[in-house]
Amino acid sequence: MIAAQDKLFDLFHDSLARGTFVKLTLSRPRDPAADMKNVFLRPVQLKDGFRVAFTYRHGTKDIFKNLLPAAALTEVATLLSASFLCANLFTTERTAELVIRADGSARIAVRKPAHGEAPSLEHDRTKARSILPTEAWLRELGVTLPDGRVREAMADKFRQINQFVEVLRPLLVEAFAQGATAPLTVVDMGCGKGYLTFAVSQLLEQMSFVGSRVVGVEARPDLVEETNRVAQASGFTRLHFQAGSIAETTLDAADALIALHACDTATDDALARGIGAGARLLVVSPCCHKELRPQIIPPPMLAPALRHGIMLEREAEFATDALRAALLEWAGYEAKVFEFISTEHTAKNLMIAAVKRRQRGDNDGEPAARVRDLAAFYGVQEQRLAALLGFKLTAEVSPKPPAPSHG
Ligand SMILES: C[S@@+](CC[C@H](N)C(=O)[O-])C[C@H]1O[C@@H](n2cnc3c(N)ncnc32)[C@H](O)[C@@H]1O
Repeated sequence: MIAAQDKLFDLFHDSLARGTFVKLTLSRPRDPAADMKNVFLRPVQLKDGFRVAFTYRHGTKDIFKNLLPAAALTEVATLLSASFLCANLFTTERTAELVIRADGSARIAVRKPAHGEAPSLEHDRTKARSILPTEAWLRELGVTLPDGRVREAMADKFRQINQFVEVLRPLLVEAFAQGATAPLTVVDMGCGKGYLTFAVSQLLEQMSFVGSRVVGVEARPDLVEETNRVAQASGFTRLHFQAGSIAETTLDAADALIALHACDTATDDALARGIGAGARLLVVSPCCHKELRPQIIPPPMLAPALRHGIMLEREAEFATDALRAALLEWAGYEAKVFEFISTEHTAKNLMIAAVKRRQRGDNDGEPAARVRDLAAFYGVQEQRLAALLGFKLTAEVSPKPPAPSHG
C-alpha cells in the first residue's frame, strides 16, 4: 500500500504539474515548543517564472521564500519528516489532509475540493476576480447548493457579496501600496453570519496580501461558533471569529476595519475603534440612524419640510453621515461617501470609506470648524463618534490672539 506521505506528495506534485494547486498548509509542530508554528505554500508567478511561495510563520515573525516546484517538493518532505505532523493540501480538484501519529504511522483523507479555481498567480492587485458560487464557504453558509448553484432566496446576498468585493478591492489598493508585502490585519465589526468576512478573507488571498489575518467580531456567540466552524471546514486558517461587543472587544491590531450594517451608533463605535487602532482604511455602511433625530432643531428654511416625519428621518440620516464624514476628515482621513449597491436589493446602501492621509487636526482648524458648523446648523449638541473621539461639537473656539498694535 502506498504510504500516506507518498500519496500527499503525489497529489501535490500532480497539482503543480497540472496548474490546479491552490495552497498547502503545514501545521502541528512535532516539537510543541518550536518557534516555527506553520508553513503556508501558494503558487506565484514571478518575473523569473513559476514558483511556490513559502511563508514560514514563527512566533513573532514571518519568513518568506520562493522555490522552484522540484525544490518545493523536497522542502515539504524535509519539513514533514523533521518539523510538522499535519499537512492540508487544497487543489481545484480535491482537498487532502495528512496526519502523522506519534508512532510514525500516518493516514490521509482525500475529499471534495474547497476552492473553485486556482488563485491568480499575478501580483496585479487591481485585477478583478469574482467570488465564484463553487466556493466551499458559500455552500457551508447556505448561499449555494451542493451542486454549486446559488439558492434562489440567496441570490441578492450572493450579488451583494460580489458587489462588496468590487468596492473593497480598489480601496485596498488605494490604502495599501500595491507593492507592499506586509500582511494585513482586517477587522469586521458586527460581522453577523460572516458572508462579507469570508469574502474579505478570500479577496486578500486573491490580491496576494500574503499571511493576512481577518477577525470577525460579533455579539451573538451562536453565530461566532458557526462561522468558526465554517472557516475550519473551508480551510481558512487565517480567519477567526470572536464573540464580543464592538465597543469593548479586545483588538490587538487593525490595518483596515469594516462594519457593514452595524445598527445605529454601533457604526460610530466601530469607526472609533478603527481610528484608535490606527487603521489606514475604514469602510462602513451605516444603518438605523436613531441618535440625531430627537436632537434636530430644523433650520427655519427647512422647518416646513421637516414637520413631515419621513423628511425629518431622512434629514437625520443625512446629518448623521455628513457629521461622521466630517469627523473622519478632522481625524486625518480622506473620506468618500457613495452608494454601495443599488436600492433595488436593499435600502441600506450608503457607504463611507476613509483612508488615513494626515495627522488629526487641531480644535481650531478648518476641519474642526466644518464639523461644528454642520452640528450647529441642525442644532445637534451630541453625537457618538464626536464624543468617542473627544471632539466637542459645541466647544468654544479659543479666542484669537490680539492683533499686534502698530501704534
Ligand atoms: C445587520 S447584521 C450585519 C451583518 C454583516 N455585517 C453584514 O452586513 O452582512 C448586524 C450584526 O451586527 C451585530 N451587532 C450589532 N451591534 C453590535 C455590537 N455593538 N457589537 C457586536 N456586534 C453587534 C448583530 O448581532 C448582527 O449580527
